[in-house]
Amino acid sequence: MSPSFARIAPTYDALRPLSAGDRAGLEAMLREAALGGADLVVEVGCGTGRLTLPLAGLTPARVMGVDAETRMLEVARAKDVAGRVEWVRGSAYRLPVADGIAGLVVMAMVIHLLRQRTRAFGEARRVLRPGGPDARGGRLCIWTFTPRHVEDFYLNAFFPGIAVIDRPRFPAVEVLTAELRRAGLAQVRVEVREEVRRMAIADVVDRVRGRYISTLGMLPPLEYRLGLQRLEEMLAQDRTIMLSQRSEWAILTAEPSP
Ligand SMILES: C[S@@+](CC[C@H](N)C(=O)[O-])C[C@H]1O[C@@H](n2cnc3c(N)ncnc32)[C@H](O)[C@@H]1O
Repeated sequence: MSPSFARIAPTYDALRPLSAGDRAGLEAMLREAALGGADLVVEVGCGTGRLTLPLAGLTPARVMGVDAETRMLEVARAKDVAGRVEWVRGSAYRLPVADGIAGLVVMAMVIHLLRQRTRAFGEARRVLRPGGPDARGGRLCIWTFTPRHVEDFYLNAFFPGIAVIDRPRFPAVEVLTAELRRAGLAQVRVEVREEVRRMAIADVVDRVRGRYISTLGMLPPLEYRLGLQRLEEMLAQDRTIMLSQRSEWAILTAEPSP
């Protein structure tokens, strides 16, 4: 079953607020990409523009957000009152971008949704500016979770099926690196980043009720109901309970091979 981003679009931002780590990650990505006003940034699977809009505020480059889901793009457009970003409905497998013109392609929390990752990486390579003796090539930057994140996920105790669903969706960085190379990308660099957040039980219940991660929408309905019921019982017993979530991100960057 594929997750429905149309249903979650109106509540997506409230259930997934940007963290300090997300902001630091955007800043680091743009610092390293060193883009100018003539450059183009393409965020593939931009969703509601949760990252695209802050990103656009940090770079002089032209910014385009591409997503397959109209409802997610509607939310993004409504937030972009200054019209800073060009929002386009499109597919990761067929980007609405000409060959070789992008300085940066971003895929943040999207590759776990792609059945044909290598094909999507090849499409990113097509739109990236090739490097040369006098010009720096464009780069692809991927944000995803590591297998360790999947194994240690704070909701696993309530929903054992989450890890079963997510293991193949969040493969080891070695697997992703090999796929990037097959897609014609080189100079693959991997950075692993950790973030720990403490969350009040009421916020956890809200997030789970809103199926704030796509995996919750893919669980068998009975498992989802039973896990949510356990969390609701904890909330009813003691509202001061806090849960700790440790996230482990893999940030991969790659450039078109010569
Ligand atoms: C988990 S959301 C992440 C959104 C955004 N990058 C963020 O971090 O807030 C994944 C997004 O990818 C989009 N998506 C999934 N498959 C796609 C595809 N094949 N092509 C384009 N967008 C896709 C979904 O519609 C959804 O908006």
